[in-house]
Amino acid sequence: MKKTIKDYEYTGKKVIIRCDLNVPIKDGHITDETRIKESLESINYLINHNAKVIVMSHLGKVKTEEDKKENTLYPVYLKLKKYLNTKVYFSKETKGSLLEDMVDSLKEKEVLLVENTRYEDVPNKLESTCDESLSKYWAGLADIFIDDAYGASHRAHASNVGIAKYLPNAVGFLVEKEITKIDNVLKENTHPYTVIMGGKKISDKIIVIDNLIKKCDYLLVGGGMCFTLLKASGYNVGMSIVDDENIKYSKNLLKNYEDKIILPIDIVTKDNKIKDISDMQDEDIGYDIGPKTIEKFSAILSKSKRVIVNGPMGVFEEKPFDNGTKEIYKCLKENKVKTLIGGGDSAASVNTLGFGNDFYHISTGGGATLEYLSGKPLPGIEIIDNKREK
Ligand code: 3PG
Repeated sequence: MKKTIKDYEYTGKKVIIRCDLNVPIKDGHITDETRIKESLESINYLINHNAKVIVMSHLGKVKTEEDKKENTLYPVYLKLKKYLNTKVYFSKETKGSLLEDMVDSLKEKEVLLVENTRYEDVPNKLESTCDESLSKYWAGLADIFIDDAYGASHRAHASNVGIAKYLPNAVGFLVEKEITKIDNVLKENTHPYTVIMGGKKISDKIIVIDNLIKKCDYLLVGGGMCFTLLKASGYNVGMSIVDDENIKYSKNLLKNYEDKIILPIDIVTKDNKIKDISDMQDEDIGYDIGPKTIEKFSAILSKSKRVIVNGPMGVFEEKPFDNGTKEIYKCLKENKVKTLIGGGDSAASVNTLGFGNDFYHISTGGGATLEYLSGKPLPGIEIIDNKREK
């Protein structure tokens, strides 16, 4: 078991807390605050325990000087100021005397947000290559390191793995909650156990499928990725999105797990017509699962004891193609099925369609959750010290 935030005393200590505050920002406005809100519990714990709190996070990808401007954490700083009941400061520097002075003047219970750690990726990728001297430098600013950046835990970067190497460390509440809840769904011995997958490309999901298919009872597939499997089964899927490089993989998967894999029997096309899969024509493009498929999937989901949802069933951002995804969520909600929503688009679809409070767990991780579901260890969490056995 990993050390947790509750395993240290903080009074008067400088504490770096690495959060994943990588939120979507459009024209300077944050469009989804979930990751900020989910980070508040650990930050508030440190404030309430008299720490001098230094918050670090990445935002977006920073590859050039120009990228810096649109990836500043300043809008996130304004939100932290709004949500935290204490003095919150912002360091425009990620390294240097201005940052060091701000750290030195920090008082107990005060918070300093440091500018985007990925500014250090220009020009030499120091953050994302986990550069030793940058890691040591950041670690030198504090006494304790808390890793609460669950969404970034599949990355071994200087601001998570690097700092953790040089400071007493622990995971925060969000990391603890994510791992506990995901493990709970993955490992409990209740059946039927169903995985429902969607999203655009099958290639992004192969490692997850390979890991989960062995243990689940059913794999229901919708979204763009179902057309690769349907084509591999011999159907004409028209101009729907197909990952031709993975037809062979799909054929093998269908052969090895024919009892577990359930594919759509009808779809809604881009021009909003419902069609049986066997009636699809060369010009058709599938945009959502159809009503017979919703019924078939719902019959399985409603009887399931645990469900992992990974990816939407259709183009949920565009009405009426949000219907399949919405109906699936409605079924899981109404039947009170223990449901884990994990991986990128899934959380976005749950929030957009108004099911944000309805499930056992909605993961804040995109890539991190995909890697965890694929059975890979997460370096950002692996590096954290274990509790001593009593
Ligand atoms: C995410 O949004 O999945 C995390 O913040 C990680 O971001 P990254 O893929 O840019 O490393």
